[in-house]
Amino acid sequence: MEEVAIVTGAGGGLGSVIARELANDGFQVVLVDRDGDAADAAAESVSGSPVVIPADLTDVSDVRQLVDAVAQRFGRLDVVVNGAGIERVHPLETMPEPDWDATMDVNVKGPMLLCRAAVPLWRAQGSGSVVNISSRAWLGGSSNTAYSSSKAALVGLTRSMAVELGPLGVRANAVAPSFVQTPFNRQRTDITDLNEMIERYTAFTPLRRLIDPIDVANAVVFLASDRARNITGEVLHVCAGAQLPPIP
Ligand SMILES: NC(=O)c1ccc[n+]([C@@H]2O[C@H](COP(=O)([O-])OP(=O)(O)OC[C@H]3O[C@@H](n4cnc5c(N)ncnc54)[C@H](O)[C@@H]3O)[C@@H](O)[C@H]2O)c1
Repeated sequence: MEEVAIVTGAGGGLGSVIARELANDGFQVVLVDRDGDAADAAAESVSGSPVVIPADLTDVSDVRQLVDAVAQRFGRLDVVVNGAGIERVHPLETMPEPDWDATMDVNVKGPMLLCRAAVPLWRAQGSGSVVNISSRAWLGGSSNTAYSSSKAALVGLTRSMAVELGPLGVRANAVAPSFVQTPFNRQRTDITDLNEMIERYTAFTPLRRLIDPIDVANAVVFLASDRARNITGEVLHVCAGAQLPPIP
């Protein structure tokens, strides 16, 4: 029987490539995004019979309906990739609480809600795999306290789930990419010159190159698959080495 993978944020720059590559690896893919049109567009590049389910992952009833729909249609859920994410850049001193809360809701609470809803399915099938898309920023960053805190919390969630759900046969890992050119970075109001930022990132990255969405997707597909059956609770940095030096 075909294994089923949910990809959240599947309408985005990374989620769309992750969905495509999971399908290429043989998964039945369910593309989830609050932007249904973007998810529909992404589904066009996904092989097999991709299913699109628009949902706001911060909404408990949306998440419940999503998992119920997958359970009804496929009777199983093998992989959850939590890729939906937002970033709100502010210095701590002027951090607006609504932006802090929104960041935590999407980046941490959303993955928790989805995994919580999936536990009964995982218990019944005795297996499951979660890949959370964290970020290099979990190690710390400037003027993105909310984002880096949320991505560090996501690592905490990953490690705790690995311990708690391991006895059910469920693995949980995180992928932490550094800067990737996607629509995501348009949210950063502090970036006036994207080319300048690209040059700056490239200069301090040991391999002197930026990450491509396929690099992230390759790591996700590996961790999601049975090839990583004895890997759990890990953070895989997809950073070309940029996780090692401090951001200048
Ligand atoms: N692009 C980068 O530089 C970079 C680097 C490291 C980590 N990341 C992380 O990778 C993930 C994907 O990033 P991306 O570059 O593809 O971003 P993106 O902005 O291209 O895509 C994110 C997608 O998430 C969806 N989304 C946001 N909030 C949602 C919600 N509440 N419910 C459902 N969908 C929601 C958006 O509609 C969008 O389609 C994010 O978690 C991001 O934090 C990105």
